[in-house]
Amino acid sequence: MTRSSRIVPFDLQDWNAAPPSQPGASPIDELERGKVLYFPKLAFTLSPAELALLDPALVDPKRKNISLNATTGVLTGVVVDDARKDAIAALVRRYYTSTRALLSHLVPGYLDSLHKPTTSLRLHRIGTWKPSWRKDDTRLHVDAFPSRPTGEQRILRVFNNINPHGQSRQWRVGQDFESLAQRFVPGATPFRPSLAWLMHRLHITKTRRSAYDHLMLQMHDRMKADADYQANGEQEAFEFPPGSTWICFSDQTPHAAMTGQFMLEQTYMMPLTAMAHPELSPQHVLARQAGMGSRA
Ligand SMILES: [Fe+2]
Repeated sequence: MTRSSRIVPFDLQDWNAAPPSQPGASPIDELERGKVLYFPKLAFTLSPAELALLDPALVDPKRKNISLNATTGVLTGVVVDDARKDAIAALVRRYYTSTRALLSHLVPGYLDSLHKPTTSLRLHRIGTWKPSWRKDDTRLHVDAFPSRPTGEQRILRVFNNINPHGQSRQWRVGQDFESLAQRFVPGATPFRPSLAWLMHRLHITKTRRSAYDHLMLQMHDRMKADADYQANGEQEAFEFPPGSTWICFSDQTPHAAMTGQFMLEQTYMMPLTAMAHPELSPQHVLARQAGMGSRA
């Protein structure tokens, strides 16, 4: 395995077990420093019937992925008969349950604070579409959503490569958030509370954007638009082979998905207050660097 400063490997093969203790920082400390926790042997095994569901034709052409809201049970993005829909829902829900089990051992202090679980089944090959530069996730970025402000919440994601043909998922992983912000915060346009109020009023955003949301969106856009940063910014390439799992705070860890097909991804939102080191959060780093008096 390639040694990496941003990827921290763990020897674990069972979703329902605790990882063996290993020297160095704890999983929570590594995650909160923006590292990627990597489990090269933690496979999510599909049955033959489930393998037959790995077909991009099952995805609604109007949507990028199939998603399950585990709280409401609503499955979106599927255009097939009810039997296969139920089978997909069961597969996706099993992944959600597995990630909860994993996190209960790995980061037990987070478990009660994780909310808004969304599970995504990604069947398309990366590069099937040519999106606009702003939506192009082959460019290094941190996650920030234009219509869904995150405010005082973090974005925790658990990925698994379920490719049945031996194809890895290739990522690029960028630098720590503190130095990233030093590059992209200067020159950002100021936050305008009246504009944030109006955008919410007009339902352009689901909730009102905070100064933090405004800055994060600019970081996201300025990173993707900066060709020099994309080519020469601090970064490392990493391959996640089939049968591997990886976890990061995607609002903190710069990432770009370069190649791959067939992946499961679990997103959780988590309040800052659940962190062991909230001072490492993007919210606190940006408040310090942008000189914002509060994190509102
Ligand atoms: Fe992303």
